[in-house]
Amino acid sequence: MNRLGILIAGLDGAVASTLTSGIALLCRRLAKPTALISEAYVQSHQLAGFNELVIGGWDNRGENLYQAALRNRVLEPERLRPIARELTGIKPWPAGTDKITAFRRQHRLNTVVILNLLPTGENAASKKYARLAAKHGCPFINFTPNDCAESATIPFCGRDGKTGQTWFKSVLAPALRARQLEVTGWYSTNLLGNEDGKIVGDPVKGRQKIRDKSKLLGPMLGYEPYHLVQINYFPPRGDTKESWDYIDIKGFLGQPMQLRISGQYRDSILAAPMCLDLCRFMELAHRRGATGAQTWLSMFFKVPYKNIPHDFFQQEQLLRTYLSP
Ligand SMILES: NC(=O)c1ccc[n+]([C@@H]2O[C@H](COP(=O)([O-])OP(=O)(O)OC[C@H]3O[C@@H](n4cnc5c(N)ncnc54)[C@H](O)[C@@H]3O)[C@@H](O)[C@H]2O)c1
Repeated sequence: MNRLGILIAGLDGAVASTLTSGIALLCRRLAKPTALISEAYVQSHQLAGFNELVIGGWDNRGENLYQAALRNRVLEPERLRPIARELTGIKPWPAGTDKITAFRRQHRLNTVVILNLLPTGENAASKKYARLAAKHGCPFINFTPNDCAESATIPFCGRDGKTGQTWFKSVLAPALRARQLEVTGWYSTNLLGNEDGKIVGDPVKGRQKIRDKSKLLGPMLGYEPYHLVQINYFPPRGDTKESWDYIDIKGFLGQPMQLRISGQYRDSILAAPMCLDLCRFMELAHRRGATGAQTWLSMFFKVPYKNIPHDFFQQEQLLRTYLSP
């Protein structure tokens, strides 16, 4: 048995309630484990199975997870109905309270990981949860753009989940570089209508996110093209986000060309399986006695710690190497 506790800061949020609903649906075999990288390693690396996961955490909204999932409107109410009882039974602790020892004991957990899903800009609160993780020897995952005080005594990883547009940027830019096509301009825009969109679409509060999304092109291409990133809060879209990328390139003899890429993503549907992968992989790192920045998990983040390359394929190789027999 490998019983794994997942404590989430921001338990009533869109990503957390989607992750919790997803685990409940997977336990009941009402969904397939699509988009879960870790699933292929459960047997070989003794990762926690769906039935071995216990979710808890903090939120000042105080909603049980059924209420939160209905409010966040990521999954349709009909999809949530069969798991209503499990979700209603999960309630957040008040923000910042320390009940980790009791949680570990009550659920007979081998490991407890802490997953930071606080809103963008909650730097002070994020640091508090990171300190709580260090105090209890829990691996810490920073999926947000927030700054955290990382402790050398526990394994940690972050920063800011690389889920949609930025992920695809880190796939495409290495291919353009490999063909020696010159990128002269890259314009990225996003429409997003959920709570996170309300914050990151704000010109002041969203600065941290824009900074994270803007950093990676120069290091991948070897020069800095004109790069503009915008995020617009657009409530009608809810959790469904739309991204547009216009990429101006020059080819042989300086002839101009253009790529136009439109993504119609679902914010929390992209993020939730990555969060579950990270929880399972961080438990593995902890079991192997690792501490400090887990750079082998950099493919999951926009700004990986320790200046690891942004190139998705190099990052994927780090993961495969760590997991190779
Ligand atoms: N969805 C994605 O694709 C994606 C990608 C990268 C990063 N992220 C990051 O993940 C984080 C979570 O996103 P979300 O869409 O779930 O946001 P959300 O706003 O829906 O959820 C955040 C939750 O945190 C709670 N909260 C606020 N302060 C708190 C505190 N001090 N203690 C406990 N809870 C507190 C809020 O009440 C809310 O329920 C954001 O920082 C976002 O930028 C998301």
